[in-house]
Amino acid sequence: WVHRYFVDNGASSWWLTGLRNTLLITVLALCIGVVLGFTVAIIRSTYEQTGKLKVLNAICKVYLSVIRGTPTMVQVLIFNFVIFASIAVNEVIVGGVAFGINSGAYVAEIVRSGIMSIDKGQMEAGRSLGLSSGQTMKLIIMPQAFKNVLPALINEMIVLLKETSIIGYIGMTDITKAATLVQSRTYEAFVPLIAAAVFYWVLVTILTYFMGKLERRLRKSDRK
Ligand code: ARG
Repeated sequence: WVHRYFVDNGASSWWLTGLRNTLLITVLALCIGVVLGFTVAIIRSTYEQTGKLKVLNAICKVYLSVIRGTPTMVQVLIFNFVIFASIAVNEVIVGGVAFGINSGAYVAEIVRSGIMSIDKGQMEAGRSLGLSSGQTMKLIIMPQAFKNVLPALINEMIVLLKETSIIGYIGMTDITKAATLVQSRTYEAFVPLIAAAVFYWVLVTILTYFMGKLERRLRKSDRK
């Protein structure tokens, strides 16, 4: 039966393509999301602390409100059928960009909560040592904030990885789509769907393992 569900009739290539696409989209979206999220968080907290960057802050607020106020599903559909409708672009890119822009909004608020969790005395201390506010942010606030928000960021990565399972709606073969394709060929739902679940579970477990390691390492350097 292994052959029936994982090798025959193109099943093996669906599973492989599915795994590859799920991973590629997740990694691309993670990179975009982290860059966007940190940028938005820094703009927003700079505005909160100093009143500077008023226009950028307003743009960020619109971004957060639109992205968090609409379903990821609808955003992915809009990206595929409206924004990238007439441009021939690799589907992995469409998915990665759509999920990246989506994730960035959540990352932004996670990081902002981390920055706010740092006592404002830290900024004052940095400034009184002669560092600029940018330097203080980079060298003193951010390292502490990052450590505080790491668990929430790991959560976001897990959500992102699993949320990519909706990409099948724009015709992409990811793990979930591969499962339904195998299902349609074999007329059996049980094995392919359980297999898809196991694939996601293994991926999330690997991710959690390495992120947990990173977290412990950061904590250890704290106690020295
Ligand atoms: N599926 C929900 C939505 O469409 C949850 C999205 C949560 N995403 C995240 N990156 N935390 O809005």
